[in-house]
Amino acid sequence: MIIPENWDYFDLTVRVNGQDYRERIPTHLRLLDFLRDVLHLTGTKEVCGEGECGACTVLLDGMTVNSCLVLAVEAHDSEVVTIEGVAEDEDIAALQQVYIDHHAIQCGYCTPGFVLSAAALLRDEPEADPESIRKGLVGNFCRCTGYQKIVQAISDFRK
Ligand code: FES
Ligand code: FES
Repeated sequence: MIIPENWDYFDLTVRVNGQDYRERIPTHLRLLDFLRDVLHLTGTKEVCGEGECGACTVLLDGMTVNSCLVLAVEAHDSEVVTIEGVAEDEDIAALQQVYIDHHAIQCGYCTPGFVLSAAALLRDEPEADPESIRKGLVGNFCRCTGYQKIVQAISDFRK
């Protein structure tokens, strides 16, 4: 069988952190790998690689997704925000600072995913109480902090 030259490739057009990209990528490339290996945005982390831990969370058209489970082609004509993009958003940048102030970071591997998930949660539920925050962040795991400082940081963010 003759495989057409472009059989396995796709011309992806995507906006990431406010910048437009057009890249020819393998159709099987994960969004996580596109961000890290093609765009060199290494703030997005991989831990489990199977949708369990939330370390790879990014915003895709405003929705949190596990970028290890999303193909880059699924982001075609869409907008992606990674942790590197928080500088564009004063609110998320402030949330990141609250994390630091509350010592809610230890190894930091989970932090980019937590910050983006928390930003989406607070956008949708600005008055979220600690219980709602815990429920809202159930898809993000942290092996270091015991979660209390993370929940406290997010609870105090709007105060
Ligand atoms: S690396 Fe994607 S959910 Fe864990
Ligand atoms: S700070 Fe290390 S996994 Fe969360």
